[in-house]
Amino acid sequence: MKKDFIDISDFTGEELKKLLDRAIAEKKLFREGKLPASCPRKVLALIFEKPSLRTRVSFATAIAQLGGSDIYLTNADIGLGKREPINDVARVLRRMCDAVAARTFSHQAICDLARFCPKPVINALTDYSHPCQAMADVMTAMEIFGDLAGRKIAFVGDGNNVARSLAMLCVKLGINFTLACPKGYELEDEFVKEVSSQSQGSIDKQGGVFEQCNDPAEAVKGACVVYTDTWVSMGQEQEREKRLSEFTGFQVNEDLMKLAPKDAVVMHCLPAYRGYEITDSVMAKYADTIFAQAENRLHFQRTLLNVLITEGRID
Ligand code: CP
Ligand code: NVA
Repeated sequence: MKKDFIDISDFTGEELKKLLDRAIAEKKLFREGKLPASCPRKVLALIFEKPSLRTRVSFATAIAQLGGSDIYLTNADIGLGKREPINDVARVLRRMCDAVAARTFSHQAICDLARFCPKPVINALTDYSHPCQAMADVMTAMEIFGDLAGRKIAFVGDGNNVARSLAMLCVKLGINFTLACPKGYELEDEFVKEVSSQSQGSIDKQGGVFEQCNDPAEAVKGACVVYTDTWVSMGQEQEREKRLSEFTGFQVNEDLMKLAPKDAVVMHCLPAYRGYEITDSVMAKYADTIFAQAENRLHFQRTLLNVLITEGRID
């Protein structure tokens, strides 16, 4: 549904590119003090079943900068689907709030919230996807490299929620995407089929090429961005030891970066686990880019709220 922002696959390349261009323009306006506070008295409900720094702070700050306010609800507060059915939660929030952003374990939970709530519902990360992160990441890469069509992003690490959203966004914008992960951590066949079919309807009509392999050295060749994320996502803590051992060799370190083009940058959605998926020295070298990504969560989501609350839909 275009009233929501649940998954990158729900939108065309043109719609996503328009949102990114608008976020870049509104970031500039905001910094010049010229962005109108378009959401006075509007209230954003923030539902978080998992911890968060960037996502929570960026949504709360964004709605405040637009003149509205937020209410933060943890699972201990509302027990989504446990203390009461998701439908009832949605039926209450729709009467009191103007938009909902939710971080849930199950992707189905946010789809159900969106189905039962006529107000905008935004995915603030699920086990399946993290679309706001992907948008802020590509926004950051656009600010560094300009037009990204035909370029390559290499993701070294787990075929997880962050990789899935970024891959889908890349192919829709004509950006090539390669995931390098240990055997068994690739993105699933169903997603590969979907990403390939969506690539055909991409903005440049050619589509970015999606590939996955088990060799980080191969993946970073020719990439303008080398991306990584934790090897142990929230909710996978019981697999920690197994994952740490199986991801050996998939660290973004200085040796790997020697194989990437000289002007390539490293990106990380954060939080970063130094000594595991990324070294301390690589974090330090690319800190400007990585923390610009974090800041762009705010700028992208302010635009997203502006569009969804004032216009009611994305098109
Ligand atoms: N990148 C990201 O979503 O960070 P948080 O988990 O801190 O929100
Ligand atoms: N893949 C990570 C992203 C954290 C922002 C997780 O889901 O925990």
